[in-house]
Amino acid sequence: MTDMIRKLRENRDLSDEELREIISSARFDDELISSADMIRREIYSDEVYLRGLIEFTNYCRRNCFYCGLRAENKAVNRYRLSKEEILSCCEEGYRLSYRTFVLQGGEDPYYTDDRMTEIIKSIKERFPDCALTLSIGEKSRESYQRFFDAGADRYLLRHETAKDEHYRRLHPESMSSQARKECLFALKEIGYQVGSGFMVGSPFQTTEDLIADLRFLQELHPDMIGIGPFISHHQTPFRDFSSGTAALTVRMIALLRHLFPYALIPSTTALGTIDPMGREKGLKAGANVVMPNLSPVSVRKQYEIYDDKICTGEESAQCKGCLERRINIAGYRIVTSRGDAKTAEK
Ligand code: 5AD
Ligand code: SF4
Ligand code: FES
Repeated sequence: MTDMIRKLRENRDLSDEELREIISSARFDDELISSADMIRREIYSDEVYLRGLIEFTNYCRRNCFYCGLRAENKAVNRYRLSKEEILSCCEEGYRLSYRTFVLQGGEDPYYTDDRMTEIIKSIKERFPDCALTLSIGEKSRESYQRFFDAGADRYLLRHETAKDEHYRRLHPESMSSQARKECLFALKEIGYQVGSGFMVGSPFQTTEDLIADLRFLQELHPDMIGIGPFISHHQTPFRDFSSGTAALTVRMIALLRHLFPYALIPSTTALGTIDPMGREKGLKAGANVVMPNLSPVSVRKQYEIYDDKICTGEESAQCKGCLERRINIAGYRIVTSRGDAKTAEK
């Protein structure tokens, strides 16, 4: 083992200079990845947790430059799911043994706090043994508190990029990394299990930006960390930028497993989109969560945040079966518990 990887395993941290070396070359990849897999197996064995993803609205008031669902993209066919439709997705998911549901959507003003609270309560009432995760963007602390009181357990909000200068190049002026970070700390204080994360290979991103992302996560200390490659979308201002790579994404997953041994790290759909074996590679580099799509097949194609997103065709009605096979072949095993994060004390 090289001194670098030995040090990373022992300290579970490195200097910026050392991180720079690992991030900017493929030289450490083999060792880094097998070491990450050892760490994940020590803590999580060969278990992979399932999250049923319900993309319940593709309306969004925001205009992130990278995202296909941005408000200014008039070519999107917009949809919203009713409470009943959401509940029947959960019903189907429960039958397939999902015990976590993720409600993900754009920032859609139609879902007022009252409507959201109503949906959350209905899901928790019907499926009390399931965890409910929200991923609906930036809200006031009061709204976050109301959703928590209604029964939401977890919240996903990627910080996208930690450095302010970079954040401003990816978003319109109405958005700021400071506002994003304030939301994340508020969510933590309220008591949510919090997930954050960033895109890999987004336009203008440098190695220094990635180091800043790791440092910010060390400050936040989230329970979940989701990362995926930036993938260019043809109807956005970033249409001409090249996408991120699977190799760098996998390297960052392996690094994250060292810095955050207990974190829940999904192997994302974006990684599976950029590389047909991407999700398997992510799992082998330390990821321990997958989020199969539970949205109605009729709307899946309309939730196109980036080009060529997988799992949107008729054949993908049951992503769970497809993923289960892939996971087994990769050498892991799906478990059907709620899949809360483990901690050093337990
Ligand atoms: N490529 C990859 N990921 C994207 N996201 C949004 N647009 C893209 C894109 N073009 C990610 C963001 C967001 C998550 C839901 O999807 O990180 O937080
Ligand atoms: Fe809206 Fe999220 Fe897309 Fe930004 S990334 S435009 S907030 S759906
Ligand atoms: Fe969705 Fe394979 S995981 S179709």
